[in-house]
Amino acid sequence: MIRMATIGTSTITRTFIAETAEVPDLQVTTVYSRTPDRAESFAAENGIATWTSGPIGDLLASDEIDAVYIASPNALHHEHARAAIEAGKHVLVEKPATTTASEFADLATAARERRVVLLEGMRNVYDPGFGLIRDLLPRVGEVRRVSFGYHQRSARYDFVLAGTRVNIFDPAMGGGALRDLGVYVTAALVDLFGEPESVAAGSIPLPKAADGAGVALAFYEGFIADLSWSKISFSHRPSEIQGELGTLTVDHIATPRTIDLELLDGTHVRHELGLPHANLRYHAARFAHLVATGDDAAPDQGRTLRTLRTMDAFRAAAAD
Ligand SMILES: NC(=O)c1ccc[n+]([C@@H]2O[C@H](COP(=O)([O-])OP(=O)(O)OC[C@H]3O[C@@H](n4cnc5c(N)ncnc54)[C@H](OP(=O)(O)O)[C@@H]3O)[C@@H](O)[C@H]2O)c1
Repeated sequence: MIRMATIGTSTITRTFIAETAEVPDLQVTTVYSRTPDRAESFAAENGIATWTSGPIGDLLASDEIDAVYIASPNALHHEHARAAIEAGKHVLVEKPATTTASEFADLATAARERRVVLLEGMRNVYDPGFGLIRDLLPRVGEVRRVSFGYHQRSARYDFVLAGTRVNIFDPAMGGGALRDLGVYVTAALVDLFGEPESVAAGSIPLPKAADGAGVALAFYEGFIADLSWSKISFSHRPSEIQGELGTLTVDHIATPRTIDLELLDGTHVRHELGLPHANLRYHAARFAHLVATGDDAAPDQGRTLRTLRTMDAFRAAAAD
């Protein structure tokens, strides 16, 4: 059994703890918070026996844990993951794994040296629905157009409008729509097609806050992808992959549950996946597998690195 500690006490950690119940070899045994009261109440609320507070080094020095799940604000992921790796703990870190590709490359090197697993919790690419997209992709023939989007107005945008600082919209905390939601569409694109040859991008900066929304064009040999993301508006527009023989339509690129394959020859097959909406269990299971078997995490890390490099390129293009 892999004994895991969690860092961060927001909703996503609560969801993660619930999801680990579906992963046989993984158990959250300790929760960490910067404040003792919060650690104690969070442990009680989530049925976890042990809690820790104070310096994060005390948590990481414990022989009672083998791994950590990091769900702190994005800008702290590198620092927290680096400390955990140096303490010999396996690391599952929330998306985006780090705020830049170079930070992630540093973590991957450190993890290799310390012989621990480092995995980004990029939930869509481990979801079985995404596996079906990979399987169906050859059916559409030569890919010519891709259009992926994720637009979900954040409740925390209301705080920004009221002039209150919140981590997820704070540039100093690695916040913003590209890092929060654009990462899903970018990871999906890079997983399926690799890194683009060149990009163009634009973003909507918010006053005294990070980007609220953005778009990018990614150019590949023979096709163009458009990507969009927003935390200040919402849309249920599906994502699409258009080939010369047909089109795949995906209801949600972060949680693919209905996938339509329509071909020029008149074929139309709708795949309704009766899977749960919560999908953190799939990357949690991948993490448990990597820890238990010692399988190489390099392919997973390579995708994360290419995704973060593409996001670096989007940011640079948007700033031009
Ligand atoms: N996979 C998904 O579906 C999903 C969904 C939401 C978020 N996420 C990811 O989860 C991570 C956390 O996002 P969030 O929106 O939940 O963040 P958040 O609420 O701003 O912070 C998460 C936790 O980090 C700790 N924290 C907050 N500010 C801190 C600071 N200045 N220094 C050190 N610790 C601090 C807090 O725990 P304590 O005060 O108890 O220490 C807090 O509960 C992000 O990487 C985000 O991308 C993933």
